Amino acid sequence: MAEADGDVLLEVKGLGKRFGGFVALEGIDLTIATGERLGLIGPNGSGKSTLVNCLCGTLRNETGTVTFAGKPLNGLIAHERTHLGLARSFQLPKPFHSMSLVDNLRIPLLYTVNARPHHHLTDAAIAERCATLLKDVGLADKARRRPRDLTQVEMRKLELARAVATEPTLLFADEAMAGLSHSEIEEILAVLLRLNEQGITIVLIEHIMSAVMSFSTRLVVLVAGHKIADGPPQEAIRNPEVERAYLGE
Ligand SMILES: Nc1ncnc2c1ncn2[C@@H]1O[C@H](COP(=O)(O)OP(=O)(O)OP(=O)(O)O)[C@@H](O)[C@H]1O
Ligand SMILES: [Mg+2]
Repeated sequence: MAEADGDVLLEVKGLGKRFGGFVALEGIDLTIATGERLGLIGPNGSGKSTLVNCLCGTLRNETGTVTFAGKPLNGLIAHERTHLGLARSFQLPKPFHSMSLVDNLRIPLLYTVNARPHHHLTDAAIAERCATLLKDVGLADKARRRPRDLTQVEMRKLELARAVATEPTLLFADEAMAGLSHSEIEEILAVLLRLNEQGITIVLIEHIMSAVMSFSTRLVVLVAGHKIADGPPQEAIRNPEVERAYLGE
């Protein structure tokens, strides 16, 4: 099994999560290096979103340890993890519907900036960062619009921008492309690649295999709450256990 090269950003050891008697995740070990583009795949219900929820602090794992940028995360609640540099976009976008796009970014950005008392930013600097972020995701011309004015692909871009507004070092993009056309998928991939080039480590959770394969420098496969493969994408998908999980016995 391949391990991440380079600086370790996130280290997960023996993570387990139950819902009542149901074991959603068991014995998950995972290392993510700074700068990686990691694809996280697995059949429906295999535990991908649950893993993201445990790492970002919206769910509590019962077993295991998580270390992020050298700091143990166990016991930290979601917003404390956000302030350390962990961000995620949701499978179903969750914008502030009554606010303009620029305000949808200003809120998470202020939230992050205000947590750093020695890094005060002027209103003009905040506005500039929001504008840059909207430009990065291709929504510069919609700054004053509301989320309801957006197409589906634009809504996904806004969801990513809202996550990136917290200035993360690690971003989990949970099914940011489901239901999009081929060209729209390419647009989202281009956004994610740009963010990665800007230094954000990205975990892409996705069922669209062509997108996962073109984006990922490493692939992790979950099946029924267990990690069954971890390595170079072409090797991981040829793993017999992975083939069985996807194609059936
Ligand atoms: N809050 C919860 N309470 C009870 N069971 C849950 C909860 N969240 C998830 N589950 C169950 O845990 C399992 C893993 O769900 P999860 O959402 O992590 O899967 P996933 O890999 O993200 O699937 P998909 O590809 O469909 O998004 C599923 O069986 C799901 O029904
Ligand atoms: Mg999911």
